[in-house]
Amino acid sequence: MGSGLAEVAAKAGYHVVLRSRTQAAADASLAGVAKGLAKQVEKEKITPGDREAILGRITATDHLGRLAECDLIIESVVEDLAVKKALFTELEQIAKPSAILATNTSTLPVIEMAMATQRPAQVCGIHFFNPAPAMKLVEVVRPLTASDDTIKTAMLFAQSCDKDAVEVKDRAGFIVNALLFPYLNNAVRLWEQGTASIEDIDTAMKGGCNFPMGPFALLDLVGLDTSLAILDALYTEFRDPNYAAVPTLRRMVAAGHLGRKTRRGFLAY
Ligand code: 3HC
Repeated sequence: MGSGLAEVAAKAGYHVVLRSRTQAAADASLAGVAKGLAKQVEKEKITPGDREAILGRITATDHLGRLAECDLIIESVVEDLAVKKALFTELEQIAKPSAILATNTSTLPVIEMAMATQRPAQVCGIHFFNPAPAMKLVEVVRPLTASDDTIKTAMLFAQSCDKDAVEVKDRAGFIVNALLFPYLNNAVRLWEQGTASIEDIDTAMKGGCNFPMGPFALLDLVGLDTSLAILDALYTEFRDPNYAAVPTLRRMVAAGHLGRKTRRGFLAY
């Protein structure tokens, strides 16, 4: 997700600092962007010159202090509230006073991250979708503390990245995940019950609803660990049985079958 965000923002003309915990991970993310851009050159969507210019606007680093130069910082670390809150407290010390701190969280309460800083009015959610360069939507999430200026800037930023921006209240799942994850969870349940095979459920939802991917291919794309974290956050907030992750999903995460990123999820890669 981090490399996708870097690509989207650099394409829109912004200078981007792509920070990971290790220089090797930051470099690997940048290499991922370079590879994606090379494909776009092949397809003649962009020129080789565009590719160089976009890459030239991204600095890959492991140094958190480099974020001091940024006007907008978008966090997209693991979906773990304690980790995110600790990072926001650290960012508070580093970021310039005028900077907006945003989270790309899928479901976690943005207010908790806002209150981990001394600038809750300048904290909001900016939620991109997978794969970020290809997906048109951004959800701008307004916690109770956010100022109108913060939300306006976040909306304008998303639009300047050629995305459709929607504003949504700070509640677990926002719009898309609140509707999408019960569906994905129920697809796994249907398979667990022996109703149909994984392949046939995917084929059915592609052909029957014109969805670009079936639910299992989509779970593997999002990552089963992320999917489980989203369902757990939804269930924690609403206690709705539709949000209770089916046992197979939890077992697959425990087994380390996380989807495309481990080359094995519901499907093999
Ligand atoms: N990075 C950048 N661009 C990509 C890409 C990637 N990883 N994958 C595909 N694309 C681009 C292609 O370059 C192509 O662009 P073009 O039309 O300008 O040439 C376009 O997307 C279509 O790609 P392909 O023709 O290669 O393949 P498909 O037509 O099969 O599309 C897909 C791939 C865009 C991933 C499509 O299958 C899709 O839209 N799937 C559904 C994805 C989805 O639902 N995402 C949301 C997940 S939920 C989420 O993210 C929330 C989070 O909180 C968990």
